[in-house]
Amino acid sequence: MRLHGKVAIVTGGAHGMGEAEARLFAREGASVVVADILPEFGAAVAADICADGGTALFHRIDVTQEAEWQALIAATLAAYGRIDVLVNNAGISGSTVGDPDGIEGWNRLIAVNQTSVFLGTKLAAAEMIKTGGGSIINISSINGFVGSDAGHPGYHASKGAVRIYSKAAAVRYGPHGVRVNSVHPGYLPPMLNGTNANARAVAAAQTPMRRIGVPMDVAYGVLYLASDEASFVTGSELVIDGGWLAQ
Ligand SMILES: NC(=O)c1ccc[n+]([C@@H]2O[C@H](COP(=O)([O-])OP(=O)(O)OC[C@H]3O[C@@H](n4cnc5c(N)ncnc54)[C@H](O)[C@@H]3O)[C@@H](O)[C@H]2O)c1
Repeated sequence: MRLHGKVAIVTGGAHGMGEAEARLFAREGASVVVADILPEFGAAVAADICADGGTALFHRIDVTQEAEWQALIAATLAAYGRIDVLVNNAGISGSTVGDPDGIEGWNRLIAVNQTSVFLGTKLAAAEMIKTGGGSIINISSINGFVGSDAGHPGYHASKGAVRIYSKAAAVRYGPHGVRVNSVHPGYLPPMLNGTNANARAVAAAQTPMRRIGVPMDVAYGVLYLASDEASFVTGSELVIDGGWLAQ
């Protein structure tokens, strides 16, 4: 029960890593808000958590929209009274937006992967400050450290921005007890809207641990940062990549 009594919002909680984090957080005693743009998947995750004896609700949000963030914060406070943890996990891959030189794809990646993190962090931090602090975990990527010619350059740009924005937020909100850290997953099973089996096989071969990750590999790291065990950890980067960046 490492999150006993805490209230946690997980964006992108309907699928993939966010789903794994929502389920794990609930098992560890948190009341969880599964926040996602996909109502059917998200509601099913929240219902499953409740059926397993946990506490969860689903709230639909498009994380690019500030008004929808305000509604999510209000719904969380109405249901559970406080916010202790926010995982800014919702994201899209570069392969979902097409032309790597197109401005539409660039703007979409920046909006979903980067601007969402700014909106969620500032609004959640304002509530956390009222109750003495909290933990915000921003999901970046190994592609927030390095470039590649795969996918869209906007993906790298957005994930790099999440990495350094998290440090700025850690400095800004640290005096108020709000911790902000970034997590950098390596290659995991295909994201919801972008599958490339061959690329994943190549990634496994290039990873020192000789496999791609699974969502729980990341969820346990996020759990640590969410918990009070990490109470002196802020502005840090947790890389969970099977050693890929170490090469
Ligand atoms: N899978 C990987 O290899 C990998 C590697 C490094 C980092 N990441 C990052 O980890 C995070 C989770 O990735 P995943 O693989 O679990 O992806 P996923 O596609 O399985 O899940 C992402 C979730 O975000 C939601 N989402 C997308 N756009 C949204 C929006 N505008 N508003 C609200 N919700 C939205 C989706 O509906 C989905 O449920 C992402 O930020 C991704 O960039 C993934």
